Amino acid sequence: MALTGLFLITFLVEHLYTNLLIFAGDGGLAFNEASHSMVHSIFIRVVEIVLFAAIILHVFQALSLTRENAKARPVKYAVSGVNQTSDWFSRNMGLTGSLILFFIVVHLNNYFVPYRITGTVGDGQEYSIAQCVVLALRHPGYAGLYLVSVIVLGFHLNHGFQSAFQSIGFNNKTYMPLLKLAGTGLAILFTVGFGAFPVLIFLFKFCQDILPLN
Ligand code: HEM
Repeated sequence: MALTGLFLITFLVEHLYTNLLIFAGDGGLAFNEASHSMVHSIFIRVVEIVLFAAIILHVFQALSLTRENAKARPVKYAVSGVNQTSDWFSRNMGLTGSLILFFIVVHLNNYFVPYRITGTVGDGQEYSIAQCVVLALRHPGYAGLYLVSVIVLGFHLNHGFQSAFQSIGFNNKTYMPLLKLAGTGLAILFTVGFGAFPVLIFLFKFCQDILPLN
């Protein structure tokens, strides 16, 4: 769980960097080129397979962990003292994870399917991948879902990052406060970074240069 989670975090760093190219002010050129070269790189194609496998594995591990937890304590405590030792988000990683999974499926259906499977976007098609992204984020429903999902992702990571290090053995008094701080910093970075896309493109009408003319 820790290793798949940390691998997914490294993917998010790369994803955020590529996404930011959409604000380059060049009509989406840099973003389209980066997407294009990623699609044609053997290395990235392999990473992509590992990434899908990591998501599936992470979800399966989450399901089996939830089942094991339920089996370990079939009858709930008469008095619940959980609030004193853990916060809501650390106890609801399954719920925040499920919301992220829902978003991943919608997100793949919006970009991966037309760009990579049906071939209806990009590579000389009617819309470039950058136009496809901006058009999707101009839609209030998608922009809203995107924003809520990145906030939920932030909460998942706020607990997940330090929990992953705890799982692999970094459970000492010196490192844990630092890892907690790093996890919160990372969660804020991803929430603000990814959250900038729906906010700037939908609310503040950024990326006007990328939209199709008609
Ligand atoms: C980009 C997507 C995701 C990232 C970066 C991510 C990251 C992480 C990390 C770093 C952990 C801590 C692992 C540990 O404690 O050892 C974690 C835990 C967890 N994740 Fe995710 N996750 C993602 C998506 C999901 C999805 C789609 C689910 C699906 C249900 C999910 C469910 C869980 C659960 C239940 C835990 C808690 C494990 C525990 O309580 O120890 N996550 N995640």
